[in-house]
Amino acid sequence: MSTVYDNIGELVTNDPSQGDGSPLGIIDHAAVVVDGDRIAWVGPSSDAPAADDRVDCRRASVIPGFVDSHAHLIFAGDRSAEFAARMSGTPYDGGGIATTVSATRAAGNDELSANLARLADELLRSGVTTFETKSGYGLTVTDERRALEIAGRVTEETTFLGAHVVPVEYRDRRDDYVNLVAGDMLAACAPRARWIDVFCDRGAFDADEARTILKAGADAGLGLRLHASQLGPGQGIKLAVELGAASVDHCTFADDSDLEALASSSTVAALLPGAEFSTRAPWPDGRRFVAAGATIALATDCNPGTSYTTSMPFCIALAVRDMHLTPAEALRAATAGGAAALRRDDIGALIPGMRADFVTLNAPSYIHLAYRPGVPIIDTVVVGGTAMKESSSR
Ligand code: NIG
Ligand code: FE
Repeated sequence: MSTVYDNIGELVTNDPSQGDGSPLGIIDHAAVVVDGDRIAWVGPSSDAPAADDRVDCRRASVIPGFVDSHAHLIFAGDRSAEFAARMSGTPYDGGGIATTVSATRAAGNDELSANLARLADELLRSGVTTFETKSGYGLTVTDERRALEIAGRVTEETTFLGAHVVPVEYRDRRDDYVNLVAGDMLAACAPRARWIDVFCDRGAFDADEARTILKAGADAGLGLRLHASQLGPGQGIKLAVELGAASVDHCTFADDSDLEALASSSTVAALLPGAEFSTRAPWPDGRRFVAAGATIALATDCNPGTSYTTSMPFCIALAVRDMHLTPAEALRAATAGGAAALRRDDIGALIPGMRADFVTLNAPSYIHLAYRPGVPIIDTVVVGGTAMKESSSR
C-alpha cells in the first residue's frame, strides 16, 4: 500500500543533496511517497509518481519526526514545590532525585506504566516519533530492572541509569554502590537495555566511578551515554569522547578543550534547554558547539525534577532564543542530531529507504516552531507510515 503526501508547501528532508542544498535539504512544492513503513520517494510535486492513495497537505510544511534522545519517563510523584522554590532562588543540586526515587519505589507497575503512557502520548503530540527513556529512579536491582521492563514495552531505546545518584542507603559506602551497579544490577538490567548512562557530575559520580561503570556496561554489550557538566565543569565530556560514547548530554559548563575533544570525535553533544530553563542554570552557547565542529542534538530531558516538558517545539524555541542556534540548526539537532545521538541511520531524515516518520505543521515554514512559541502547530504525526495523530482540521 503506497500513499503520496502531495501539495507540501515546504518539505524539510535533512538531505543536503535535495532542494536548496542546505543542511535541511528543503524542497518547495514537494511530495513524499510512503510505501508500507518506509519513505519510497521525495521530490517536487510535479514529478511525484502515482500511488494507491493521496493525501493533500494543503501547502503545509512537513518535517522529519523529532528524535528525542534523552528522557526519564519511568517515575512517580511530583516536584512542583521544588520547582517553585528554585524560581525563588533555591539552586538545583540533584538532591531532589531522592524524592522521586522514594515515590517510584513505592509505586505499583500499573501506576508507572500509566504515567509512561501519558508522557509517551504527549511526546507523540509534540511531534516526537522516536524517544529514548532511562531508568534511574529505582536504584535497586529490582526497581531498575522493573523500570527497564516497563520502558521496553514502548521504546527500543532503553537506557540503564543505575548510576544516577548514590541512593541514601549507600551514602556511607559508595564504593559498594558502584560495585553493585557495575555487577549484579548491570547483569539484571543489560538484557533489557540498549544503552548505559552515568550522571558524571558534582554530587553524583566522579570520572573514575563513571569509567568503571561504563566499561562494565560496554563489556555487557551496551552502548554508552553520559550526563556531564550540568552542575559544573568536570571530566565527563572528555571521558565520553575517550570511551567512544554515542552522546554526552547537558554540557552546560563545556569549556574550549571539551569542545575540541567533541569536534574530533563521533560523540554527539545533546543540549537540553528544558533543564536550563527549569533550573535557572546558565545557557550553554550552542553557537560555540557548532563553530567548533561538534555534532549537536536537542532533547527534552523530560523528568519530574529539572525539565518536566515533553514539548520538542518548546525546546527548539529555547535553543533558538537562548542558546543562539538558528531555527535551521535547532530543527536539525532535534531530528538528525537526535538520530545521530542514538546511532540510528533509519530515522531523522526523509530519504528513500528510511522510516516514514514525519510531521505536518499548521504553518508555512518550520521557522514557526520557534517564531510561534507555545502555539500548537504540530498537525498530523506519521510514524512508520501510519498517521498516529490526525489533524483536527482534516
Ligand atoms: O537530566 N541530571 C540528572 N538527571 C536529570 C534530573 C533528575 C532529577 O532532578 O530528577 C537531568 O537533569
Ligand atoms: Fe537527564
